[in-house]
Amino acid sequence: MPESTQVSVIGKDQTRIDGPMKVTGVAQYASDFHFPGMLYAVPVEATIANGKIRQLDTAAAEKMPGVRAIFHRANIGKIFRSVVGQGIDGICEERRPPFEDDIVRYYGQYVALAVADTFEAAKAAADSVRVTYAKEKPNVETDLKADDDPDMILTTFGPFHRLQSERGDPDAAFSSATVKLDQTYVTPAETHNPIELQATIAIWDGAMLTLYEESQGVFNLRSVLAQMFGLPKENVRVITKFVGSGFGSKLWPWTHCPLAAAAARNLGKPVKLVLSRKMTFQSAGHRARTQQRVRLGATPEGKLLSLQHDYVYHRSMLDIHHEDCGEATPFHYSVPNLRVTFGRARRNVGATADMRGPGAVPGLYATESAMNELADQLKIDPVRLRVLNEPKIDESLGIPFSSRHFLECLELGAENFGWSKRNPEVGSMKGDGLTLGWGMAGCAWIAVRFAAEANVQLRDDGTVRVACGTQDIGTGTYTILAQLAAEKAGVPLAKVEVALGDTSLPEGPLSGGSVVTGSIVPAVFAAADNAIASLLMIAATTPGSPFEKRKPDHLAFEGGRVFVKANGPAGGVPFADLLCRANLRLATGSGRSEATFGNPKPKFSTHSFGCHFVEVTWQPEIARLRVNRVVTVIDAGRIINPLAGRSQIEGAVVMGIGMALLEHTSYDPQNGAPINSNFADYIVAVNADVPELEVHFLDYPDKEINELGARGIGEIGLAGIAAAITAAVHHATGVRVRELPVRIEDLLTSSVLS
Ligand code: MOS
Repeated sequence: MPESTQVSVIGKDQTRIDGPMKVTGVAQYASDFHFPGMLYAVPVEATIANGKIRQLDTAAAEKMPGVRAIFHRANIGKIFRSVVGQGIDGICEERRPPFEDDIVRYYGQYVALAVADTFEAAKAAADSVRVTYAKEKPNVETDLKADDDPDMILTTFGPFHRLQSERGDPDAAFSSATVKLDQTYVTPAETHNPIELQATIAIWDGAMLTLYEESQGVFNLRSVLAQMFGLPKENVRVITKFVGSGFGSKLWPWTHCPLAAAAARNLGKPVKLVLSRKMTFQSAGHRARTQQRVRLGATPEGKLLSLQHDYVYHRSMLDIHHEDCGEATPFHYSVPNLRVTFGRARRNVGATADMRGPGAVPGLYATESAMNELADQLKIDPVRLRVLNEPKIDESLGIPFSSRHFLECLELGAENFGWSKRNPEVGSMKGDGLTLGWGMAGCAWIAVRFAAEANVQLRDDGTVRVACGTQDIGTGTYTILAQLAAEKAGVPLAKVEVALGDTSLPEGPLSGGSVVTGSIVPAVFAAADNAIASLLMIAATTPGSPFEKRKPDHLAFEGGRVFVKANGPAGGVPFADLLCRANLRLATGSGRSEATFGNPKPKFSTHSFGCHFVEVTWQPEIARLRVNRVVTVIDAGRIINPLAGRSQIEGAVVMGIGMALLEHTSYDPQNGAPINSNFADYIVAVNADVPELEVHFLDYPDKEINELGARGIGEIGLAGIAAAITAAVHHATGVRVRELPVRIEDLLTSSVLS
């Protein structure tokens, strides 16, 4: 904003504008909607992970009270495959519509669908469907060796990933280096566990299909479903008003959605399908297991000479997902010789998918752990090792960073944590009778823009409406949109109505990759500018307007008022008055952000950066390990809403405690089932696991991303945290754990006895 009489709402703590709706139960999530005549669908889950359906006996289920139909391959009707179009369009991870054949490729694959008048009747019917299988041994082997041709991969984002990276001569530089490190790090399969379960309600009206769905990307979902049902996109509407979080599990459509739509089509009634928690472990995506070999060659002083990052991850028989563990490797540190390669190992598991910080989160766990081990080997402070290897530019692309303040993150983090008091000797630090371990790690995450469109209306009652067909997945997008519109229109936040989560709105970005905030700023600002321009035209041309004889460009708008530029804002007239006098309900404008994602020739390397400093306590008598204190510093450009921003980072750190110490999806080697598919056995960090969390933002605007300089913050907080925790575990216990999660059993070999 120019020289301003108006109080800015950017960069100020704002409570969620949707908060009261959520806590009073007014907010309607997809599964909260109800429609007359609505039926309930429950899928039948395969109880093998590899084989063929031999026989499907639905006779008993069909005769049960309230049952409308049991659908399966022979009677579901046509469901087409979908294909990835241009950009982020038509993407779904499971490359096969449900019921396409009789082959079972993973445990829990849907093999039939029971539809009934009530959920209970549908569940009982689904349980009564008798399925016999020709069963083969499932492959859920945890040791990963690449068995899939990497050239054949079709990644989620098509050509956007830098799949392999190489510079210099990493082999020669490694073999001649005086200091070498060669270790392999393993991360397990992890399952997204948003509190809100996935849900679809499908309603047909002739050839029009409406879906109430939990989606992180309503426009992509529309495209996929339009393809699957052979419809033009305009015939499909997707509505996602509130999302109880997603972490990536709701980014791409899963097979329950076309099943609900097919059932609704066949029966001519609205159909609701809500997944069980168990189903979300089987058929709604998970983070791939990874096995990552990292080789570092360095000088005795700690200068990196060679970096090799060779990773393998598991994938399903069906998905197109690429777990891009090497995302941050090529640019994070200065190193003349580098190679990143990947391989894939097919397993009889459900489709893998993006999970918060896909690729970079497991990748940085491995590379940052290797840096910490190298520091110990060299007896150099791990912060200093990173400072020594700070790059001047992005060495992989040969271009400058738009805004990188990684060293300042390290400095601020070390200072706030008290890092200078660290005694590097294992088990040497004590506090409150406990052994303390201190560890740290750096982090990075891409910062790009997806294309976005928005509309802003200034209305005759003094309110403003901003519309953008993106989603709020619990991260605070409603509030950010309101802040952006309020800032431009010069009204308080309470006067802004936000419309999102609907494909009938201007096309907004996917809620993934931490890109929404960065992407919508230019679109909303341009829309507001255009609405204001329209208002000035109205002011100058409406008979009886106080500005009737003026030219629009002699007028200005600020603080919600129109005034004559030459006279200054003092005699301004509120926009509501001008609209009322003109008998107009509103002045409207639309705007657009262009995508920077996928730009083949960027001028700048755009990323967010940060670091974590962690203290753990270790109580060897009872083998009790706790994360006791975390200081995180994030360089994510301008922070539009620090309150929501801190929540994002704190939530990510909590998830990182889970990643480092608790989370692990295990597959039964006999039947291939994810065996801990519930909250009793799949442990996530809870309040009792969460220590004091300190979050600092650097707040340097990055004008390459948008005029406010705001990058995204949804994912970066989870990057690096597991490496910082495992380093702290080593510092406390002397045990180097290279396979997550760290288990109590791993620590029983600790030499630190008290
Ligand atoms: Mo995030 S994994 O890009 O939803």
